[in-house]
Amino acid sequence: MLIHSASQVLTLSGGPQRGTELGRLGILTAGALLLRHGLIAAVGPSAELLAAYPDEERLDAGGRVVMPGFVDPHTHLIWAGDRAAEFEMRLEGKSYLEILAAGGGILSTVRHTRAATVEMLLAETRPRLRQMLRHGTTTAEAKTGYGLETASELRMLEGLLRLDEEGPLEIAITFLGAHAIAPEYKGDPDGYTAHLCAEMLPAVRRWWDAHAPQRPLPFVDVFCETGAFSLEQSRRILVAAKALGFPLKIHADEFDNLGGASLAAELGAVSADHLVKTSAADIAALAQGQTVAVGLPCTPFGLAEREYTPAGAILEAGGLLALASDLNPGTAWCGNMQFVIALACRTMRLTPAQAIAAATINAAAAIGRADQVGSLEVGKQADLLILNVPDYRHLGYQFGMNLVDTVIKKGNVLNV
Ligand code: NIG
Ligand code: FE
Repeated sequence: MLIHSASQVLTLSGGPQRGTELGRLGILTAGALLLRHGLIAAVGPSAELLAAYPDEERLDAGGRVVMPGFVDPHTHLIWAGDRAAEFEMRLEGKSYLEILAAGGGILSTVRHTRAATVEMLLAETRPRLRQMLRHGTTTAEAKTGYGLETASELRMLEGLLRLDEEGPLEIAITFLGAHAIAPEYKGDPDGYTAHLCAEMLPAVRRWWDAHAPQRPLPFVDVFCETGAFSLEQSRRILVAAKALGFPLKIHADEFDNLGGASLAAELGAVSADHLVKTSAADIAALAQGQTVAVGLPCTPFGLAEREYTPAGAILEAGGLLALASDLNPGTAWCGNMQFVIALACRTMRLTPAQAIAAATINAAAAIGRADQVGSLEVGKQADLLILNVPDYRHLGYQFGMNLVDTVIKKGNVLNV
């Protein structure tokens, strides 16, 4: 298929964009793309490609923007139930960590998720995936973490594998058994940490080898935070995971600066996410390594907080910055990367071009897939969007509405 007559093709070519390089969109005006076998076979001026492939099936982009599908590198998209009542409690003055300490928050979703069968989990999750696709996300990371015991965590892994197999949205899977202290270990975070290291991580490794031997291992993530896992407990978990061969991620500095970002850099984690309270030393440590800094502006927004990821400092230091939704039932029930971009422009002071690069090629780097998705280059997956706008700056400028007209995944035009 030949997609032609785009006002702008945002190629995002040239790999992940570090520091103040962020925002190189690689714009081809009056551009076209040839798609073959689910991959991009050619990128070039419309006039040239139309002449070179006269018999190819055509899709007229009609003077609109064509860009890579969004990559959302941090979601908790599979869960059961909701926390609408907690939203109201927070508006009335209770804090997120107070609600968690009282057995609500993540632990409330854990109760619902433990009680759900895989089929029930899938039935609740599929509509969310459809919403994400409609809004242009073609690849997403997704975490477990609402089981907090081996059987329920494995059920979440099974659900995520099935959703990925069903497609068309591709899912990069993460084990987040260290999302909160399991209720069985209330008051004993060291006990749960030891259980994670000695029992749960090896069980996940065995389960994965038995059920998905052909796939790369999932990421292992930890919520390094006051009220969840201390820096020292996070280190124990991540070191144990690394020894079992798992690639790493971390939730760091959402509410308090515990040093999780430096730990991520030291252990070579693929990403460190949230980074609201991150210190200058942590930012420098990230910038010196390969760990991608992931900003999640929906989270402070969802919690009605004022502080956001210091994108300017991260870019000045030479860090790799990506954006994600954090889609989850507690802090940010939003899987719309267009809204993430709009928020990032206003709260993190990114330009639309910077935010777009952070939500595509750099987001792909944050899940270790920058060689497959996140840009429109020959040989990469044909995952792309036609937007209903003539210029890329409308992303971020317009907000709260869906600017995506057409979603193409692996060369197939989706009916979403
Ligand atoms: O990234 N901070 C920890 N995890 C999620 C929230 C999950 C929940 O509240 O259910 C986050 O914000
Ligand atoms: Fe999260």
